Amino acid sequence: MHPENLPHKFAAAELNIFTTMSALAQEHQAVNLSQGFPDFAVDPALPQLLYEASKAGFNQYAPMAGLPGLRDAIAADIARRHGVTADAGTEITVTPGATYAIYTALSAVLRPGDEVVVLEPCYDSYKPNIEMQGAKPVGVKLQPETFRPDWQALKDAIGDKTRAIIVNTPHNPSGTVWSRADWDCLAALVSGRNIYILSDEVYDQLVFDGLQHTSVLQHPELRSRSFALFSFGKSLHSTGWKIGYCIAAQDLTKAFRNIHQFLSFSVNTPAQHALAHFLARPASGGAASALLQQKRDYFLELMQQTPFRLLAPAAGSYFQLASYAHLSDLPDTEYAVMLTRQYGVATIPVSVFYSDRHDDKILRFCFAKKEETLLQAAERLSRIG
Ligand SMILES: Cc1ncc(COP(=O)(O)O)c(C=O)c1O
Repeated sequence: MHPENLPHKFAAAELNIFTTMSALAQEHQAVNLSQGFPDFAVDPALPQLLYEASKAGFNQYAPMAGLPGLRDAIAADIARRHGVTADAGTEITVTPGATYAIYTALSAVLRPGDEVVVLEPCYDSYKPNIEMQGAKPVGVKLQPETFRPDWQALKDAIGDKTRAIIVNTPHNPSGTVWSRADWDCLAALVSGRNIYILSDEVYDQLVFDGLQHTSVLQHPELRSRSFALFSFGKSLHSTGWKIGYCIAAQDLTKAFRNIHQFLSFSVNTPAQHALAHFLARPASGGAASALLQQKRDYFLELMQQTPFRLLAPAAGSYFQLASYAHLSDLPDTEYAVMLTRQYGVATIPVSVFYSDRHDDKILRFCFAKKEETLLQAAERLSRIG
């Protein structure tokens, strides 16, 4: 047996950029603003609740769809925050993270030969996950600088083979946020067609400047054809817990669970108990958005001392984009490596989020960090000549 005989399930079989940049950051003791994870502590109630759940004996398999208590808590939370009704029994499934939920939803709806439209730049798991189903990702570029959808380009990309469209709001990497009008435009494009929507809403609780997150679940015409995917990792700053959930209409949830039951089957039991108790506490309405907005503002202010040109302030998410086009002709992947090696700050080059590696010389900075981390990064970046 030779490993080269193993089937390549998808084209992008290289190590993903987050693994590469985080390893490089470690090697050069760089400040790591590359991967999207917080370096500050979670609410102390979370580890306490996790400990109590395990100690109380909740250490065996949870039900396949998730603990009923957690699904009830999610239904109440989503009703309170987004005004959306979701049936805990038939429409909510707890998953080991949102990335897994994206894979499972794709697996539930795709047949070999189908096409899936992705708006680029996009989170890097989408395309390989589509290819793993024998389907084809069709990239449509968001507009330069604003990262708003190009509706004509999206319309042109939709054809007879289009089986799904993936949307991400708030958006990684640009931090843009969809409005109700955006959902209306999408609904008009898919009306009368057999197209599913995968709506990646992992940053739904991180929206700034008084803006509101709008969920696909709020849209009456899109609700029945959509999978909405969420992550406790992002909303509770606990990415290492790897727990998320999928909300979809009953028939779609059934198809989703048919796959889920043979992938992970269920999700970490004590963590589900901890989350159910945590969500049942009096709501701290908007605390995560306020915290991250403060961090974004601090980072924007610090970046003024550096030669980078900031793009529009992120309206949501963990990320801020900045251009170095006036500083160097290096491709963004090389510039990011140079920054890590010579200046000790790791970032993500935005070209990696495009299938054609489109390069506008823009870097993604994760500001979900302690103030001291952001300060240290800015001090280092201000040394750039
Ligand atoms: C857009 C987007 N979707 C999904 C995820 C992953 O979520 P999880 O950690 O719950 O798998 C991320 C993480 O960076 C993301 O940026």
